[in-house]
Amino acid sequence: MTDLTRQPHVILTGDRPTGQLHLGHYVGSLRQRVALQTQHPQYILIADLQGLTDNGSQPQKIASNVLEVMADYLAVGIDPSHSTICLQSALPALAELTMLYMNIVTVSRVERNPTVKNEIQQKGFARSLPTGFLVYPISQAADITAFGASLVPVGDDQLPMIEQTNEIVHKMNSLLSEPVLRRCQALLSPVSRLPGIDGNAKMSKSLGNTLTLSATEEQIHKAVGAMYTDPQHLRISDPGQVEGNVVFTYLDAFHPDAEKVAAMKAHYRQGGLGDRQCKMALEECLQALLAPIRERRKEMIADKGALLALLKQGSEKAHDHTQKTLHAVKRGLGLPVMF
Ligand code: TRP
Repeated sequence: MTDLTRQPHVILTGDRPTGQLHLGHYVGSLRQRVALQTQHPQYILIADLQGLTDNGSQPQKIASNVLEVMADYLAVGIDPSHSTICLQSALPALAELTMLYMNIVTVSRVERNPTVKNEIQQKGFARSLPTGFLVYPISQAADITAFGASLVPVGDDQLPMIEQTNEIVHKMNSLLSEPVLRRCQALLSPVSRLPGIDGNAKMSKSLGNTLTLSATEEQIHKAVGAMYTDPQHLRISDPGQVEGNVVFTYLDAFHPDAEKVAAMKAHYRQGGLGDRQCKMALEECLQALLAPIRERRKEMIADKGALLALLKQGSEKAHDHTQKTLHAVKRGLGLPVMF
């Protein structure tokens, strides 16, 4: 019997194409993907089907953002010769595995998933909860297992998905003539959640507190200028608080020189360092980070034909790979594999 745990690592990550990607995505995941892509085989899934689970009546919103996300990926340095970028709706094996897994997961188990529970509340679905939304963690388990992913770089809100995936792996493997599905583990980024520029705990498009990767120089300037600091820090000479101060959270996430940030923090705490100076340091590193990304992104999005061709190429490779898993599961269940 093959020992699935001894196979080389495979990485899968994904994003719902609900809008352009922003700085929260960058620190939480994109940056890490760029670093990981030369270490292990990496698949990146544009999860349009998952995006539709709470946008069923606005398919154009999802469809129109597929290539926007593709452009974001390439602009931050995800390299198609290292990372396979693919489209969820182009991979029927994912949908078929979802159908098979749905039979071994109870309704009460999906209802217990804390992330889904939260989202259902926040979105105020009540009785109008789409069935697809309730079961999206099962579809995500299908994504992860179809690729044989062992490492899944995600934010901490996705930990319940990983847990649920491993439960499905265990249950399904026990039903198969020999184990096929691989257990996975989350790879948490050191900065897993970037607060919004308004100080809200999460940067999120629906809260309108994001900086997208295509933000202009002026937008970056304004965002940093309006950023929440320490409301008690009235005079420069006053001691200031670093905890909960968004400018310092961002300096931690983006400033290349950690020692310099530590020195600034000490100075700020002691008193004598003004908010304006901290903001200038932050703006400088954000402008330096985003300028080349913005330029590359502009070039990419100007040639949608080329973006689509790359996505098709990646999806073809992913199709073969995921189809193999589906076939192995079908065979393991004793179902005839015809095509
Ligand atoms: N749920 C993820 C998000 O909201 C997107 C996603 C879909 C995903 N399928 C995945 C992430 C598989 C990792 C692995 O961003």
